[in-house]
Amino acid sequence: MKHLIAPSLLSADFLDLRKEVEMINKSGADWLHLDIMDGVFVPNISFGFPVLNALKPICQKPMDVHLMIVEPQKFIPEVAATGAYMMNVHYEACTHLHRTVAAIKETGMKAGVTLNPHAPICLLEDIIQDVDMVLLMSVNPGFAGQRFIEHSVDKVVRLREMIDRKGLNTWIEVDGGVNLETGKRLVDAGADVLVAGNFVFKSPDPMQTIKDLKAL
Ligand code: DX5
Ligand code: ZN
Repeated sequence: MKHLIAPSLLSADFLDLRKEVEMINKSGADWLHLDIMDGVFVPNISFGFPVLNALKPICQKPMDVHLMIVEPQKFIPEVAATGAYMMNVHYEACTHLHRTVAAIKETGMKAGVTLNPHAPICLLEDIIQDVDMVLLMSVNPGFAGQRFIEHSVDKVVRLREMIDRKGLNTWIEVDGGVNLETGKRLVDAGADVLVAGNFVFKSPDPMQTIKDLKAL
């Protein structure tokens, strides 16, 4: 499939979120990526459900929610109530990942499992058949604007091999340090969805930047 683009709101102008979301609505973006952090799982705190609920009536793109929090299973109803399309939980944050994935899907949301940069692809061997998407972190989660970790391209290749070997159609999303150069290599390696924060929102013409990422 043609790859999708999910701009990350973490790099948007928080004083003018309405304008930023309206720009995303008009753009060629496929999803809006929303990063929720708790200051425990990652060394930063971003925004939470009140902000997502405020965006709900104006956001016309499917919301791709990335929970960088401990015990994400506690918040499945809250995420579902925001109207989210996809709920991504970290492998490293879930003791009973199989149960959590099933509970996410029971709400009607799609379920994504996220791997930190150090976590090997083989960890997914016995859960991948149950998830809609794998989100590979190509930076250590917590902050926008970090440098892309090169090894991530190889992880995409190996994840693509696993998905093909099992005859699945699980999507591969990559998050962190995505620009035109890294994005091209990720798409060539088999990525289906690219998240981009700083590269979109800090660019002089975000709508054009989204178009450029989409054209890779
Ligand atoms: C990082 C977040 C990312 C972040 C990406 O912890 O999960 O979604 O916003 O930002 P960039 O694209 O600037 O690396
Ligand atoms: Zn993210």
